[in-house]
Amino acid sequence: MARLVKGRLVVATHNEGKLVEMRELLAPYGIEPVSAGELGLVEPDETGSTFTSNAAIKAEAATDATGLPAFADDSGLCVEALGGEPGIFSARWAKEAGSFILAMDGIERRLTAASAQPPYRARFVSALALSRPGEETLTFEGTIEGTLVFPPRGKLGFGYDPIFLPEGMTRTFGEISSIEKHGIPPDGSRALSHRARAFQAFARACLSD
Ligand code: IMP
Repeated sequence: MARLVKGRLVVATHNEGKLVEMRELLAPYGIEPVSAGELGLVEPDETGSTFTSNAAIKAEAATDATGLPAFADDSGLCVEALGGEPGIFSARWAKEAGSFILAMDGIERRLTAASAQPPYRARFVSALALSRPGEETLTFEGTIEGTLVFPPRGKLGFGYDPIFLPEGMTRTFGEISSIEKHGIPPDGSRALSHRARAFQAFARACLSD
């Protein structure tokens, strides 16, 4: 399949943690990521009701503003005993709580209030959207299943990483390096994180020769 993307690609995120991960994921493909922050782009309102629609809104806004291909992700943590919350509101919960530590604390309190019993099943979801001028937006989704642990463990990663224990592992996302979190060779053998899994689907469709 022909490469659909080469050269400059706007990474439509203002989230530093996600930007670092996206740069790592894009690095092997000879793509020059330019961040929305560097270009001074305004963040659009995330008015969609799904991860996929919000990713498409962000990518399309960046393409409209720059005339360049743009890549955006929308992601979040879905907690089974909380009916899938915070889901698309993961960033908002942290903002309202004042920090991720407080947001993680809030999740534990809600689980207790809901009389939920461990293991607290949860999943991270990542939707990626690629928009290009005059072309239909492509979207890809990746998930990783796991459980939540309290108190939070580890200082690596970002966001809700310290409470997320991926299925089959003994360390939280806060206790493993981002290379291991993505599962990229040579340090990792398979796509592990939700973002890496969505990225793998994107790469297969859009980046392979
Ligand atoms: P958004 O996609 O920018 O709307 O924000 C997603 C939010 O979900 C982030 O701010 C984090 O709170 C959370 N999140 C998404 N992916 C991860 C991850 O890989 N680790 C930890 N938290 C994440």
